[in-house]
Amino acid sequence: MNEKNNISKDLLQFIKIVNELISSENNEPVFKEPEELLKSVDIILSDKPTDDTEFYQILKEVIKETPKTSSKRFFNQLFGGRHSKSVIGDLLAVLLNNSMATYKISGIQTLIEKQILEEVRKKIKYPPEYGGTFPTGGSMSNFMTLVAARDKISNHRINGESKKRLILYCSETAHYSIKKNVSFSGIGTNNIRSISVDNNGEMNCKELEKSIQIDLKNNLSPFYVNTTAGATVLGSFDHFDEISKICKKYNLWLHIDGAFGGSLIFSNKHNELLRGIEKSDSFCFNAHKTLGAPLSCSILLFKNDQDLLRSFDTDANYLFQTHNDKYNLGKTSLECGRRNNALKFWTLWKSIGSVGIQNIVEKQLLISNKIKEYLSEKPEYKLIGPRYSLPICFTYKNIDPVDLCNQLYFSNKLMVSYGSHAHKTFVRLVNVNSQNGIEEVKGFFKIMEDFVEENYERLKKISN
Ligand SMILES: Cc1ncc(COP(=O)(O)O)c(C=O)c1O
Repeated sequence: MNEKNNISKDLLQFIKIVNELISSENNEPVFKEPEELLKSVDIILSDKPTDDTEFYQILKEVIKETPKTSSKRFFNQLFGGRHSKSVIGDLLAVLLNNSMATYKISGIQTLIEKQILEEVRKKIKYPPEYGGTFPTGGSMSNFMTLVAARDKISNHRINGESKKRLILYCSETAHYSIKKNVSFSGIGTNNIRSISVDNNGEMNCKELEKSIQIDLKNNLSPFYVNTTAGATVLGSFDHFDEISKICKKYNLWLHIDGAFGGSLIFSNKHNELLRGIEKSDSFCFNAHKTLGAPLSCSILLFKNDQDLLRSFDTDANYLFQTHNDKYNLGKTSLECGRRNNALKFWTLWKSIGSVGIQNIVEKQLLISNKIKEYLSEKPEYKLIGPRYSLPICFTYKNIDPVDLCNQLYFSNKLMVSYGSHAHKTFVRLVNVNSQNGIEEVKGFFKIMEDFVEENYERLKKISN
């Protein structure tokens, strides 16, 4: 056995390191300047091998200095925390190392991916002729739908251009991937119509229809509306039912980007927020954002698999050699070697059931709502955005939110970010760690309030 490549031996070390990480991560430091890290941890690569004892020592230091996204101090991003059953699935996917391109190389893992898609299909009431895949993330999910919608109404895929200028619509709060995707797909960013939103961040449907009518009058070709279930900053949900009627009237593709909030399909209590979802042409959600699955785990469904096949089914006889296309998932994906991101969601779902997943999403919304209720009674807080959403957006006293977030980070207290809406900037606390209870989220406010009290003089102020 090669001393350097001994999986059993390395896994024993791995378990040790993981146990140390888990017992220490809650209050670990989250910030050091890059120059300081470069001086203190030996990450330099060289021709020389590293002795295993030293190698593991360095690895421990690297882990110690890595920001801890599962700690009780991390509220910065739309992911955080972990569910052990999902982690187990992901670790196994690494060890098994299948590519999801063909049945031949992924076998039962193909069936597992298809089983998830089928159960999600039932939840969103798409017809049996649906299609689906696990792209690398929400941005890629959005990209695939845009390309499919483009190819459905034009020969852009073949000719590199369309007869008429293609126009798409999204709200001004849509995720920034939309702009990138429009550029990558050759549609051109000048052809995005950015529709205004109300105070809650929901798309103005009247303005959407008006904008479509103007474009039609100008002999342009409207083709796609991107809506959001859980907008990145405020967590708002667009009115899918109303927008679907507009899309039907003008024959436009309706995509629901549920990367952040789409996991509400598991909730019976809050599915009103997703009313009309079955009328969409495509829908995605990220299990890595709200359900404790490790990055990344994005699930994308198309109402009609022909739309997916038209754009992504390209033959390659060096790859597709056995079984029919139903089991060769590379026929409906962008990637060739595609990581198995389904197993971690299957292990979670199999272990806790739909009921367990429902409990996770409902608990998170409940905590956010309770905290908003609690803050609304305190005059030093001003809340921004909808009541029913996961992010808790607020300003505190007269403290500049940008400075507050930065100083909390530089002082190793908390990781939280700021956002802006309607010319206002505010702290955006993202409550998605499924391991957190209300006490952990309240703990955030205690640390922040103490920090402001101790540092009040040096923190920048805003005029209210
Ligand atoms: C609404 C929305 N869509 C898409 C994405 C992109 O997802 P990913 O980070 O998996 O690419 C995000 C990420 O924050 C998001 O909030």
